[in-house]
Amino acid sequence: MAKPKSFYFCRQCGYQSSSWLGKCPECGQWNTFEQEVVQSDKRHAVAAANHGIPTSSPRLIQEVTYSENRRIPTHCGEFDRVLGGGIVPGSLILIGGEPGIGKSTLLLQTALSINDQKILYVSGEESEQQIKMRADRISHNSQQCYVVSETSTQRIFEHIDSVRPDILVVDSIQTVNTETIDSSAGSISQIRECTTEFQHYAKTTGVPVLLIGHITKDGTLAGPKVMEHIVDAVLQFEGDRNYGFRILRALKNRFGSTAELGIFEMAGSGLREVANPSQFLLSQRDETLSGAAVAATLEGARPIFIEVQSLVSSAVYGTPQRNANGFDFRRLSMLLAVLEKRCGFKLGAKDVFLNIAGGIRVNDPAIDLAVACSILSSNVDIPISPRICMAAELGLSGEVRPVSRVEQRIAEANRLGFEKIFVSKYNSRELDKKRFDIEIVEVSVIEQAFRELFT
Ligand code: TYD
Ligand code: MG
Repeated sequence: MAKPKSFYFCRQCGYQSSSWLGKCPECGQWNTFEQEVVQSDKRHAVAAANHGIPTSSPRLIQEVTYSENRRIPTHCGEFDRVLGGGIVPGSLILIGGEPGIGKSTLLLQTALSINDQKILYVSGEESEQQIKMRADRISHNSQQCYVVSETSTQRIFEHIDSVRPDILVVDSIQTVNTETIDSSAGSISQIRECTTEFQHYAKTTGVPVLLIGHITKDGTLAGPKVMEHIVDAVLQFEGDRNYGFRILRALKNRFGSTAELGIFEMAGSGLREVANPSQFLLSQRDETLSGAAVAATLEGARPIFIEVQSLVSSAVYGTPQRNANGFDFRRLSMLLAVLEKRCGFKLGAKDVFLNIAGGIRVNDPAIDLAVACSILSSNVDIPISPRICMAAELGLSGEVRPVSRVEQRIAEANRLGFEKIFVSKYNSRELDKKRFDIEIVEVSVIEQAFRELFT
């Protein structure tokens, strides 16, 4: 046996060095190097070669065939949408998310609903009994789903040999380890090696592999920028654990668009698809409540209507409090400064609390106008009709700026039965207004929107 070698790895990006470094030359982070013992003689070839997996040989590109309809449908519309229409054979898909968000539930549920394929669900986190308990919560009639609790990749490949699955699920990549490396499970070199072994398996056999990955405290996938390079698709499962909504988005997808997004709701019996999220996100509110405004946002390529709620009250203490839930705090400060400077509202002596209903986080700048209007509405204590929605960005001088794909937003507002939509004047130039029944209000500065709404 060769003498064990040790290397230093950057926790952030996986950069490998033979000596300790204070600053990573790859990603520029400080103090991220950790020592790991690596036994790197035969590496991943061992696992694959021993188990009857054919090694690849060069072929002419003309001779390589594939057919688009070979994608395997997951029987879950939202999941398929994010994948770009089903699982591509031979692909390696990483699903990341915070603990408890529902990654295991999503994949077990998918495994149980794909009835026409043989599936091997490997869990390094739960025993077979625990998986069964979870499966019992999710109603299913699957006949072809095998489960096994295992952490060694060598033994996982043995199980693959005996089951010969059509789809492999591994929960989670941080808990499996390969014998070719000495470092402990979850270390960067282990994650990299195991991912490479699964990649080799997926590419040579055409069996798709779905890997679950954990997310670190700072919100990045644990271990692995290295892993992101190896896999074909990186999907992120996110949401507020206190709310039922879960969003699945593609951060990388070699076989589909990253603009797509799937929305689920965590129910007592597993995850339920939400085909019309706006209906859930817009609360059935009373017209007499001030401080609420509806924004027509786009999440990826999909219009989602959300309710922005604000509370403006006199500050009791010297420094006014500001709080934003689901919205960028610095952006809120900027919008408040704009309202103060351009609209003459004395918000400096007021506490401002902002909340995006449903526990959703929004990055679309088109929400700006709704945020400003909800703050103004709470400030003057005049409600905005729930039949009005908005889609515009605010500039530093209080100008209402155009947003992308405004037609799509208006069409959706029209479909959902809104009476009015506020958009930027500069957006509506290219608009064919006759196409819509909804009244389109064009504004160029924030004062104009204010006058329209509150006077
Ligand atoms: P889980 O899939 O274990 O999360 P992860 O694998 O991402 O860590 O999901 C855990 C949460 O989901 C847990 O808090 C319980 C909840 N849950 C339900 O609400 N309904 C269900 O049917 C199931 C299976 C889980
Ligand atoms: Mg889990």
